Amino acid sequence: MSQPLRLGIAGLGTVGAGVVQILRKQAALLETRTGRPIVISAISARSRTKDRGVNLTSYAWEDDPIALAQRDDVDVFVELMGGEDGPAKAATEAALELGKDVVTANKAMLAMHGQALAVTAEARNCVIKYEAAVAGGIPVVKALGEGLAGNEVTRVMGVMNGSCNYILTRMEDAGLPYADVFAEADGLGYLEADPQLDVGGIDAAHKLAILSSLAFGTQVNFAGIELEGIERVSIEDITAAADMGYKIKLLGVAQMTGRGLEQRMQPCLVPETSPLGQLQGGTNMILLEGDAVGQIVLRGAGAGAGPTASAVLSDICDIARGYRGSVFGQPANTLTAATPALSQRPAAYYLRMSLKDKPGALAKVAAVLGEAGVSIDRMRQYGHIDDCAPVLIVTHKTTRADIDHALAAFDNTSVVAGDPVALRIEEV
Ligand code: NAP
Ligand code: HSE
Repeated sequence: MSQPLRLGIAGLGTVGAGVVQILRKQAALLETRTGRPIVISAISARSRTKDRGVNLTSYAWEDDPIALAQRDDVDVFVELMGGEDGPAKAATEAALELGKDVVTANKAMLAMHGQALAVTAEARNCVIKYEAAVAGGIPVVKALGEGLAGNEVTRVMGVMNGSCNYILTRMEDAGLPYADVFAEADGLGYLEADPQLDVGGIDAAHKLAILSSLAFGTQVNFAGIELEGIERVSIEDITAAADMGYKIKLLGVAQMTGRGLEQRMQPCLVPETSPLGQLQGGTNMILLEGDAVGQIVLRGAGAGAGPTASAVLSDICDIARGYRGSVFGQPANTLTAATPALSQRPAAYYLRMSLKDKPGALAKVAAVLGEAGVSIDRMRQYGHIDDCAPVLIVTHKTTRADIDHALAAFDNTSVVAGDPVALRIEEV
């Protein structure tokens, strides 16, 4: 019989317990598929006594995840604790130092330290596999790193945080303001312990940074992402965008341009009839575009015990089968430092403003846009409420700089009340 692959699993929370459950339930199937038994040697978490809904009595216990990674009976260290630094990184480094492969779901650690960890791993002929770190159950890391290996990838785009998509679609369906739906999502346990990771776009940006590296052969560069969360998306904008035929999504986009690597995670409008526009609730969707393949759409559960454990198991099976490969799709020492593009590609914009009921008000707005070089594609004005009328404008393609110029100039017109809103409309 082939040698068993022996795992040490650190972290027995949502994902870790899910992984143990699949390993126990599917032991025979996994052995048939990989040609060798996959066994758990030892486990670690903070609490040894917590009920995790799965029988753990047959596994050795370590209080310290570093000691777990260093055990002689552990071939593969499975890091499912989370956190960009701390024990997750220390134990991962300890495993690599001893020449052990690592499987992790930890996008924060990879987004911040991916390059250094990849260099360490490859210097020791180790692999780090992380299918679960991006979009949970969707096999997007494999799709990009392996399935599209023959393509020049032209764009990666998608909804990569289920909690934000839940909040935005729930706001629209129930007509509720952001604060109410945020509180509801928090109460239902849909948000990370630090909700800012979700609604601030940080979790999704971690994932985008990893995909960018795989797609464009660049070193992971989280700091190079233009980042804006969903906290300022109002129910007024969701309703108005819908009226103009759009949905608002927290959209990640990565594209190599002549000006450098453009990486953005920000609320954008997409056509309501597009696959992204149709995406409801906590589901994720990633669009991959390659010069040979065209566009691929991947859709599925981005979180939860089953989907995320499913992705972890795919990595464990790869290692059991002897599928190795570079951490980011090519040797780490060939990944180039990404120069961030300092400006976004031109796009159409959605503008919403409140216009005072004065003669010539609309003409002044049109004049400001014209002077800024912004051309109007469509416009809609609604009835006045308290002497102000909501006005929606969809522009032709323009630059963010021209839009910002126009927004600043509206201040001097004395016809625009409050702060106008400008959101990018992404071509999908
Ligand atoms: P979780 O439910 O909070 O579980 C974390 C586990 O790590 C717990 O078992 C905890 O022990 C253990 N742990 C924390 N600090 C530790 C330490 N210092 N020493 C030993 N054990 C420690 O987290 P999760 O949702 O399973 O997420 C795990 C990883 O998967 C994270 O990187 C996360 O970003 C990623 N991920 C999660 C999902 C998801 O749907 N949840 C999806 C994709 C990726 P105790 O249980 O004893 O407290
Ligand atoms: N908080 C994340 C989400 C979990 O909502 O998508 C998976 O990373």
